[in-house]
Amino acid sequence: MSSLVWLITGCSSGFGEQFVRSILARGDKIIATSRKLEKLKHLEQAGAAVLQLDVTDSQENLRNTIAKAISIYGRVDVLVNNAAYIAIGTWEDLEYEDFLAQFETNVFGTIKVTRALLPHLRDRRTGTIVCIGSRSGWSGDPGVGAYSGTKFALEGIVESLWRETTPLGIKTLLIEPGRFRTKLLSAENLKATVSAIPDYADMSRTLMGHLASEDQAQQGDPVKHVEIVLDLVRQEGVACDKAIPFRLPLGVDSFDDIKAKCEETLELLKEWEAVIRSTNYEDKNQ
Ligand SMILES: NC(=O)c1ccc[n+]([C@@H]2O[C@H](COP(=O)([O-])OP(=O)(O)OC[C@H]3O[C@@H](n4cnc5c(N)ncnc54)[C@H](OP(=O)(O)O)[C@@H]3O)[C@@H](O)[C@H]2O)c1
Repeated sequence: MSSLVWLITGCSSGFGEQFVRSILARGDKIIATSRKLEKLKHLEQAGAAVLQLDVTDSQENLRNTIAKAISIYGRVDVLVNNAAYIAIGTWEDLEYEDFLAQFETNVFGTIKVTRALLPHLRDRRTGTIVCIGSRSGWSGDPGVGAYSGTKFALEGIVESLWRETTPLGIKTLLIEPGRFRTKLLSAENLKATVSAIPDYADMSRTLMGHLASEDQAQQGDPVKHVEIVLDLVRQEGVACDKAIPFRLPLGVDSFDDIKAKCEETLELLKEWEAVIRSTNYEDKNQ
């Protein structure tokens, strides 16, 4: 495959940073972005082009940023919507503004950046949009509702994008990682609200303890994750000779949790089938 030009959001740590390193190692070109350019100095020295990009910026400003990105190498072939953070807290402990901010970054950021690039990909009738979802897009855990909601939202919005733009030559991939050792759960990046409501105190304390002990002890290796995504986009390695799926979970926990959710859903459909199918007008019941 000839060399690709990648554009990635949230490159200062975790998957984003690893994407930059792995892309350079495969000989592709990368435009690495972050909210703070100074956080990308080491990646620039390694050979990445860098741009300041905050996914919560206005649609107009993001269009200008994407235009700048396209001008660097004359094109962008692959966009990875990677930037996100986790807001922890119950429905009652988080403010409405906390939910808004969570969706602003994780969902509306993805929408705005993708919309800014789509005309370029459509004109060229080629390109790949990768969105980083999560196993949390399948399962709503207590105290993680805001984050789960954003990842569930991506499932629907990005699936529609895939169906809309496949006929135009654009590929879309939705990756659903389990728990990987990045900075997602670090004190720096995690936005956690401990419950101030006695009814949730035990659950909240347990969750906070669990998140703190899980940080930097996650089973998933971000290098392996990123290398698989590169294989999928470049149709090589593990993806060689395979039809590329739209949706791919990555990680043992993601596999197990999604399988369990599918089985639970099939069980529900079986047990309640007669009731579920009983709602047509009489002459339309089958
Ligand atoms: N690690 C996991 O276990 C896991 C599991 C499932 C899904 N994911 C997903 O993987 C993706 C990457 O996360 P990660 O695990 O690599 O965590 P991470 O190390 O915390 O990286 C997240 C990145 O998002 C960027 N970011 C946050 N808000 C931003 C904004 N408004 N505009 C631009 N960039 C912003 C941050 O970059 P700057 O501060 O430099 O802007 C940061 O580099 C996320 O979508 C996350 O939901 C991760």
